[in-house]
Amino acid sequence: MRKSFLNLVKTLEVGSRLYHSGSNGPRVLITGGLGQLGTGLARELRKLHGPESVILSDIVKPEAEEIAKGPFVFADVLDFKCLQEIVVNKRIDWIVHFSALLSAVGENNVPLAVRVNIEGLHNVMELAKQYKLKLFVPSTIGAFGPESPRNPTPNICIQRPKTIYGVSKVHAELLGEYYHKRFNLDFRCLRYPGIILYDSHPGGGTTDYAVQIFHDALTTGKHVCYLRPDARLPMMYIDDCLRATIEYMMTPGKQLTTRTYNVHAMSFTPEELYAEVKKHVPNLEIEYKVDSRQAIADAWPMVFDDSSARTDWSWKENIPMEKLVDIMITNLRKVYAGDPSTGKLDAMA
Ligand code: SER
Repeated sequence: MRKSFLNLVKTLEVGSRLYHSGSNGPRVLITGGLGQLGTGLARELRKLHGPESVILSDIVKPEAEEIAKGPFVFADVLDFKCLQEIVVNKRIDWIVHFSALLSAVGENNVPLAVRVNIEGLHNVMELAKQYKLKLFVPSTIGAFGPESPRNPTPNICIQRPKTIYGVSKVHAELLGEYYHKRFNLDFRCLRYPGIILYDSHPGGGTTDYAVQIFHDALTTGKHVCYLRPDARLPMMYIDDCLRATIEYMMTPGKQLTTRTYNVHAMSFTPEELYAEVKKHVPNLEIEYKVDSRQAIADAWPMVFDDSSARTDWSWKENIPMEKLVDIMITNLRKVYAGDPSTGKLDAMA
């Protein structure tokens, strides 16, 4: 993965300036940095531009080992001045806005989801506009609803999501594209599938089962699944997700025909994932106890059409399902055996 990043970033565009990899790279602020994706993105960007190039931020207290890897600051996305201070003092060029409540937790606390996902977004968008920053905001399969075509779901189609998470993400897509057109904000947005990784826990989404099943396989030997056996959803391994994000951020703006792209890697059901995990853990049992998350999954895409991303900036996934399962099992075996080279699971479990 590192090699392809390096090939890609001999020269990269950041706003109106040009940076050269390994030297004067962009200075990046990641909000919600201690969630599922932030530490991984920080690690990859720091490989490219040095440890000081990424400021990880969150309202959660970091582990000492996280601080050792590079700068960390407290940042509450609801506090405009706090964010503004960081942008000015740290001379930030890009904001990667990962701070958000996911689909299942959002339904359990709608007022908080409105504040974090919508008011927080307004703060970073205004800052990005004022200081001419490049802004990345992830969107999701959750930005679609029951009226959207589900197999495949095109980049542009009707979007009537039924969760506050989905509503807030459509709001982000539309506002970002509007700011791009109206104020020339360099807004970039990828619609992520469910993201699967072994070294941190997901934060309360509908796709979380596809991570939990691996932990259960190697601990209790039994997975209780809250989705139906045939609930098909798009998924992606973290390495592909981080690579997609960095490749997209580095694509010159003139190559882009839109600012919001679907990205696809694979699509599977709980039944299919169970069968694949069982090849590595033959005694694994599964029981289906469907809950309210099934209704959320029922309205989401089964397969993403990501042809625009493939055409405009040559997106291509590297990791199919069999490889993902192999990576997860191999690495989690080491984690549960206490192998220090795998790091440890983050505190969100
Ligand atoms: N993983 C997210 C969720 O399930 C989807 O973007 O909420």
